[in-house]
Amino acid sequence: MSFPHHRPRRLRTTEAMRRLTREHQVSAGQLILPAFIREGASEPVPIASMPGVVQHTTDSLRAAAADAAEAGLGGIMLFGVPEVRDARGSAGVDAEGVLNKAIADVVSEVGDDLVVMSDLCLDEFTDHGHCGVLDADGAVDNDATLEIYADMALAQASAGADVLGPSGMMDGQTAVIRQALDGAGFTNVSQLAYAVKYASAFYGPFREAVDSQLQGDRRSYQMDPANRTEAMQEVGLDLAEGADMVMVKPALSYLDVISDVAEVSDVPVGAYQVSGEYAMIEAAAANGWIDRRRAIEESVLSIRRAGADMVLTYWAQELAGWLKEGK
Ligand code: PBG
Repeated sequence: MSFPHHRPRRLRTTEAMRRLTREHQVSAGQLILPAFIREGASEPVPIASMPGVVQHTTDSLRAAAADAAEAGLGGIMLFGVPEVRDARGSAGVDAEGVLNKAIADVVSEVGDDLVVMSDLCLDEFTDHGHCGVLDADGAVDNDATLEIYADMALAQASAGADVLGPSGMMDGQTAVIRQALDGAGFTNVSQLAYAVKYASAFYGPFREAVDSQLQGDRRSYQMDPANRTEAMQEVGLDLAEGADMVMVKPALSYLDVISDVAEVSDVPVGAYQVSGEYAMIEAAAANGWIDRRRAIEESVLSIRRAGADMVLTYWAQELAGWLKEGK
C-alpha cells in the first residue's frame, strides 16, 4: 500500500492554519453600497423583490451614507427615482433633480470620508425607460444621448460627485464625459466606466427599485450574454477613452469575464453584484434553503477571487459589520 506524501489537507487542519494560507479576502474598503433615493418620499419605501433594501428619503439616505462612512466602506453609488419623467430624461440634468440633490446632500453629510458615486444614465429619468433618447423610429440614438450624458456629467460633478458611473452602454460615452468634465475644470472627477455590461435577466428587481417604465429590452446597447471576446473590445475602448476604473456587470454569471478583464486592465476593476443576484440568495435564505451569511460571503469572495478589486453589493454595509466582528 502506498500513501500520498503530498497532503494539501495539512494546510486545512485548523482555522488558524486556514487563515494563514488563505489567498483572497474581502475588506470593507473594497465594497461599494448602491443606494436609491425616491423623490417626495416621506418614509423609506421597501422594495419587495429586494428584501432589506429601500428607496430612501433624503434623511434616511443621509443616515445610510453616514453609516457607510463610519463602517469604512469604499463608496456609495447613488440612483435617483424621480416623480416626473419625460422623453429626454430632463430630471437627470436638472440641478434640482432628485439625484443631483441627493449627491449634494450626501457629500455635505460625509465630506471626504466616503467616495460618493452617481449612476450616470437616463433610464430612471425617461418616460420610455430606455438608457438614451429615441430617434424617429423609436431606436436609441447613440450620439444624441451622448450630448445629454455630457450635461448630466456636469450636473453631477457640480453637485459634488467624486466618481461618475456611466451605465448606459452608449459607444463613446467615456470619452464624451471626460471631455465635458475637463472642459469645465472637473479634472479630478473620475469615471467608473460600466465597460462590460450585459443585457441580463438579473437586473429584474432593480427595475422595481427604480420604478422603471421600460417596455421591451436593452439588447441593442447592452452586451449579449454569449460574448466573452467582445468584453475585451469594450474594455479596450473605455481604457483608451480615459476610464479611471472599469466595471463588469453582472458579477456571478460573468466571473470568467471579470478574470479576463482583470488580466488586461491597468486600472482598478469593479464588479457589480446586481439586484437579481441579491434577490436569489435572499429568497433561498428566506425559505431556509441556504445558509444566508455563508452564501453572501462566498459569493462576494468569489467575485474578488475572479479578479475584481472592488465590488458593488447591496450587502456592503452588512458585510462590513461581519468583517468588523473579525470572523
Ligand atoms: C442603468 C442601470 C441598471 C442597473 C444599474 N444601472 C439597470 C439596467 O441596465 O437595466 C442594474 C443594477 C441592478 O440590477 O442591481 N441605469
